[in-house]
Amino acid sequence: MESAEAKKVMLSGIQPSGELHLGNYLGAVKNWVALADAFDCYYFMADMHTITVRQEPKELRRRTTEQLAEYIACGLDPEKNTLFIQSHVHEHAELGWILNCYTMFGELSRMTQFKDKSAKHANNINGGLFTYPALMAADILLYQPDYVPVGEDQKQHCELTRDIAIRFNNLYGETFKVPEPYIPKTGARIMSLSDPTSKMSKSDPAGCVFIMDRPEDVARKFKRAVTDSDTERCVRFDPENKPGVSNLMNIYSAVTGRSLDRVEKEFEGQGYGVFKAAVGDAVVETLRPIREQAGRLIADKAYIKQVYTDGDLKASRVARRTLRKVYRKVGFVEKPFE
Ligand code: TRP
Repeated sequence: MESAEAKKVMLSGIQPSGELHLGNYLGAVKNWVALADAFDCYYFMADMHTITVRQEPKELRRRTTEQLAEYIACGLDPEKNTLFIQSHVHEHAELGWILNCYTMFGELSRMTQFKDKSAKHANNINGGLFTYPALMAADILLYQPDYVPVGEDQKQHCELTRDIAIRFNNLYGETFKVPEPYIPKTGARIMSLSDPTSKMSKSDPAGCVFIMDRPEDVARKFKRAVTDSDTERCVRFDPENKPGVSNLMNIYSAVTGRSLDRVEKEFEGQGYGVFKAAVGDAVVETLRPIREQAGRLIADKAYIKQVYTDGDLKASRVARRTLRKVYRKVGFVEKPFE
């Protein structure tokens, strides 16, 4: 057996800014669960990132721990993965400041997420929103990961992280591992049920199935899912011309493990109504144990606290090692005691 040291390291952050949905589960978390044995994985609740947009403090606190519980319920095993809360590991803020000084104004200005978010929150374009990618670089580089599993929307931030790491290494010698974004080969891209041309998102609740939705709500959302207005009315995979049906096929294939070909055959000669109901049922059954387990874990506050305490200890140890090295390299005087 390989020792933990020999395993490649993976790290990703999740903003506790909303409830976990089917798109997150099938597109990301499910893959992460499968990676736990082959990699040394770190996942953290990115609460520090979340406050770049105004948050209700009580809500943020609740969502941070509930989201952790939901991830565990999805199969992310705290015995195999390091799960922690970003703000508990103060090295993130500390390295974040330093990396701010090695990130250019022009680079930050080019980030599409900054442009999008400042358009959306025009009354709160704060410094944190602008320098967020430097904190994200710190989140990553502290753990010297080989891979950063992220969605398409975070690729630009990962590229910038690599540029910052390379820049720092060139100035001070090998300090950071230069990580690669990890875009899994499998892992469905789940679209909104009400608008299959845009990604499933919590900002469109009618088209979004949440992990914690009641079964009857899940079933209803699938019954009302938009299908396509083409004339052939058959279940065939064609994302270009039949985005609605193709999205439902992707979902069905992901939750049943059946190939798209097989799904096509299964519903040959059947109408969209039958198909939508079948997809709804399959999703309900997939989510049922997750939702029930999440409910139990959310109620078990002591257990969740134990998970993030253990995670903090392990993450802090690794983060401290990297930060110390960085402090030395940039010329800070060593602190006599910790
Ligand atoms: N920026 C990511 C998002 O909005 C969350 C995130 C924060 C993250 N720090 C990270 C992802 C480090 C990967 C690695 O989704």
